[in-house]
Amino acid sequence: MHPSHSFQSATLPLAHGTGAIPALGFGTLIADHVAARQAIKVALEVGFRLLDCAELYRTEDVAGHAMREVFESGTVRREDLFVTSKLWNSNHRSERVKPALEASLRRLQLDYLDSYLIHTPFAFQPGDDHNPRDEQGKPIYDSGVTLVETWQAMERLVDEGKCRSIGLSDITLEKVKEIVAAARIMPAMVQVECHPYLPEWELLDFCQQNGIVLLAFAPLGHGMEPKVTNDPVIKAIAERVHKTPAQVALAWAVQRGTAVLTTSTNPEHIRTNFEISSLPEDAMREIRDGITTNIRFNAVVETGVAGFVPRVG
Ligand SMILES: NC(=O)c1ccc[n+]([C@@H]2O[C@H](COP(=O)([O-])OP(=O)(O)OC[C@H]3O[C@@H](n4cnc5c(N)ncnc54)[C@H](OP(=O)(O)O)[C@@H]3O)[C@@H](O)[C@H]2O)c1
Repeated sequence: MHPSHSFQSATLPLAHGTGAIPALGFGTLIADHVAARQAIKVALEVGFRLLDCAELYRTEDVAGHAMREVFESGTVRREDLFVTSKLWNSNHRSERVKPALEASLRRLQLDYLDSYLIHTPFAFQPGDDHNPRDEQGKPIYDSGVTLVETWQAMERLVDEGKCRSIGLSDITLEKVKEIVAAARIMPAMVQVECHPYLPEWELLDFCQQNGIVLLAFAPLGHGMEPKVTNDPVIKAIAERVHKTPAQVALAWAVQRGTAVLTTSTNPEHIRTNFEISSLPEDAMREIRDGITTNIRFNAVVETGVAGFVPRVG
């Protein structure tokens, strides 16, 4: 029997930021705001210390209230938390970047973010409409700003102390390389969809070589079909190591060196998703070599339009 160790307080050092990011994070993409507030509070109470937010999720104010309540109860301090948020596509123009972060900070009731990410590399028509569309229903992109220009505006936010690090999200390896080549302040993290059906080994390898944390979203495949938690390889390992399939998928993510964001409105899932410990090496190999299913559940990386795409058939 291998000696299993807990991942509950595991962190990844930030080579391009200050300190470290907790490996186990909780996401705030929850449509129902009452459920979101309750879930975020439970997540903080069970021990999650990384909270992932975004202007687009419309839950920053909910997360702000949940954090405030937990701070006031005295169990968690601001400095114990690592809070991320994201610049939406319609705010890529340089002059819109700082006001967008300031608005996020107001909603979150915070003075600074631990990391601010460009939500996607796609610039949309600037304005308050998150999802501008033309007459054919196609997204209206903005050719008046480049990703490098937006990145430079993000760098200035670090200079001003409004965020302690900056990063990218929903981006391909090719585009990460473009920013790495042009950056004065390197991306601290890259947030992408990542799970046993989309392991992103090449991107992980590049990130690790360049001191960038890969922050995996949808580590349980967003609960969509085919379910990662129903995969025969994952289920067999779960039975062998006396863990749930979700715990196996999350432990695999941490053990291979990514940070991870999970989300649930079920208090029991929230609690067990935080009770993660290391897997035997043979289980890590089985997941890498024994799973051949390859699925991307969220097409945001292709178009900048956020959302999980229901699979037909
Ligand atoms: N950068 C981006 O574009 C982007 C896109 C998507 C998400 N994200 C971030 O990543 C976070 C996580 O994404 P996600 O929601 O797709 O994560 P996920 O953890 O892969 O999926 C959540 C789904 O899994 C279910 N689930 C959670 N724990 C479970 C368990 N122990 N057993 C069985 N089912 C379980 C949940 O249902 P229950 O509620 O019933 O537990 C929910 O339906 C988001 O909140 C957001 O912060 C970022």
